[in-house]
Amino acid sequence: APGGPDPAALLAWYDRHRRRLPWRAEPGRRADPYHVFLSEIMLQQTTVKAVGPYFGAFLARWPSVSHLADAPLEEVLSAWAGLGYYARARNLHACARAVVDRHGGAFPDAEAALLDLPGIGPYTAAAIAAIAFDRPASPVDGNIERVISRLYAIGEPLPGAKPAIKARAAALTPPDRPGDFAQAMMDLGATICTPKSPACSLCPWMEPCAARAEGDAARYPVKAPK
Ligand code: ADE
Repeated sequence: APGGPDPAALLAWYDRHRRRLPWRAEPGRRADPYHVFLSEIMLQQTTVKAVGPYFGAFLARWPSVSHLADAPLEEVLSAWAGLGYYARARNLHACARAVVDRHGGAFPDAEAALLDLPGIGPYTAAAIAAIAFDRPASPVDGNIERVISRLYAIGEPLPGAKPAIKARAAALTPPDRPGDFAQAMMDLGATICTPKSPACSLCPWMEPCAARAEGDAARYPVKAPK
């Protein structure tokens, strides 16, 4: 398509169809960094639906990162029961302590400082920087990998294609709304650009999508031969 995919077209779709999720701010407002942090850690190996009640319970019990830092680890672990992968809960607690000890209880807004915190990897650092602070960062999760590999018909299988996918995502990210843009791609991947039978006719990026032009968007991301 002339000029390639337009980030503004996706943002306009997001403004109409964004999912209302407990950790998201009202439209036009920035989310609380602690809410973004907590939700992103919970969402790492758990579905949006399952995370909802846990997110609410954690916030009710520990309303700020300092409250969480002051909690005994055992209480955090028992509140985590049911979410699985307990290393996440230990890291969550260690990270809350580090935010208090190193940053006086305020999450840093720079990706590099976020990455230095325990339990925060490249994805989570980029997600917090973009979503909570509107810094020009580009978190790439499984949904976004699928959207980008289809948009550009990336023929290389994962995980080899990851650097190319990250570069494409970064190049597309609009400097004025990086957080909304990342969440728009997550929502597109979860609701339209789904793994099987994507709803291309409803997609704001149908026209510029290279996989759609080939006729079989679901072929991407390409599976590595076994
Ligand atoms: N999955 C991981 N992070 C998410 C977010 N911020 N919104 C929706 N789904 C997500």
